[in-house]
Amino acid sequence: MILQQISATLFSLAFIRCAYGRHYASPLALDAQVSTGASTPTKGTKCAGGQTVNNAACCAWFPVLEDILPNMFDNECGDDAHGALRLSFHDAISFSPSKGGGGADGSIITFNDTELNYAANDGLQDPVATEIPFIAAHNVTAGDFIQFAAGKGITSISYRPTNFHDPTAVSLSLCPGAPQVGFMMGRPTAKAPAPDGLVPEPFAPADVVALLASHSVAGADTVDPTIPGTPFDSTPSLFDTQIFIEVQLKGTLFPGQDPGQGEVKSAVEGTMRLQSDSLIARDNRTSCAWQTLAGQFRSPIVHMVDPDVSTGNLSGTQSAFKSAFERMAIIGHKAADLIDCSDVIPAPIALSPVDGPHLPAGQNQKDIEQACTTAPFPTFTAQPGPATSVAAM
Ligand SMILES: *[C@@H]1O[C@H](CO)[C@@H](O)[C@H](O)[C@H]1NC(C)=O
Ligand SMILES: *[C@@H]1O[C@H](CO)[C@@H](O)[C@H](O)[C@H]1NC(C)=O
Ligand SMILES: *[C@@H]1O[C@H](CO)[C@@H](O)[C@H](O)[C@H]1NC(C)=O
Ligand SMILES: *[C@@H]1O[C@H](CO)[C@@H](O)[C@H](O)[C@H]1NC(C)=O
Repeated sequence: MILQQISATLFSLAFIRCAYGRHYASPLALDAQVSTGASTPTKGTKCAGGQTVNNAACCAWFPVLEDILPNMFDNECGDDAHGALRLSFHDAISFSPSKGGGGADGSIITFNDTELNYAANDGLQDPVATEIPFIAAHNVTAGDFIQFAAGKGITSISYRPTNFHDPTAVSLSLCPGAPQVGFMMGRPTAKAPAPDGLVPEPFAPADVVALLASHSVAGADTVDPTIPGTPFDSTPSLFDTQIFIEVQLKGTLFPGQDPGQGEVKSAVEGTMRLQSDSLIARDNRTSCAWQTLAGQFRSPIVHMVDPDVSTGNLSGTQSAFKSAFERMAIIGHKAADLIDCSDVIPAPIALSPVDGPHLPAGQNQKDIEQACTTAPFPTFTAQPGPATSVAAM
């Protein structure tokens, strides 16, 4: 089964590990739970910093936000933002009621001496070391912090803390184009490490494709350890659709001296193509979904589930990525035991119109390896100039 191979490849290599906790059958069921929450919201509580939230407990997260934006993320969608997102998936995916493993419980930090030795967690030493002092400084649980930081890592900083004196520094954005995700607090400290080798639930093909959109802002540190921080597309600081275009281009080069395990040739100098991405783009069960996303402007998964897609109307949408991310973030918990602090996470900013889908400079529509048999790959123009070459992150 190719999808099983793909799942296994994702498990060992990739950035995204979405899991669907068994007791959260559908996004709709979760939404209903989230909106009720654990404690009765105290409507319109004012926090010390002047922000208004529904639940006073959420005020504690504004100082965390104001600290981590400049001091953990350097106000950019860079290596630390990518690491925070990857860490959240690895913590959450380790869930098994029978084998142990509490899901999104922070065990990857609380029991770092155990879990960081698992092969699947290779490369997460840096994000763990980065997050530990912030968790201690703010006296929050590791489980909550990991998911909060990840949510920040993929949404933008349109939020400008009132007590910041340098508005230009904080107006820089993290991962423009990302969908807005919610945040729930209240995960207790983990009691035990997750066991090694927990394989994710099988993915539906469309889910695989939607979740791989996160490779738009991702890179690999350990696939080829000689070139850490090698991105998967030419625009790793934008949550855009380039990954879907560039993986469909004929592969011609390896970014390093030798191919890493699970790596195939990429089309753009300085970018790495995962074998799993390449297979999904060309598999007849996923190739048409893949190319549909290639043609979408802005957050691709928003379009996938939004009836307004053809009109390009992005307001009021519910993205598959957002839904999957939010379910992942509470694996192992009941939503009703947590407090919805989504109002601490501000609305993301959109991509600029100049960041629309395109062929990297030096590429040609003929370089697209058509896989979908029912519709042609959308047509793009190449950026002008010499062939695109991408720097490591
Ligand atoms: C694991 O956590 C402990 C306690 O917070 C910390 O001192 C240690 O440096 C961590 N180890 C790694 C590999 O991150
Ligand atoms: C940290 O939080 C815990 C649990 O909320 C609380 O019991 C403890 O007093 C706090 N410690 C500090 C130093 O604020
Ligand atoms: C997809 O490809 C497989 C293997 O190449 C083939 O057996 C199958 O019939 C194809 N399915 C469709 C719907 O084209
Ligand atoms: C866009 O979609 C939203 C929500 O579905 C709707 O309220 C709004 O009227 C739409 N705007 C346009 C211009 O169609």
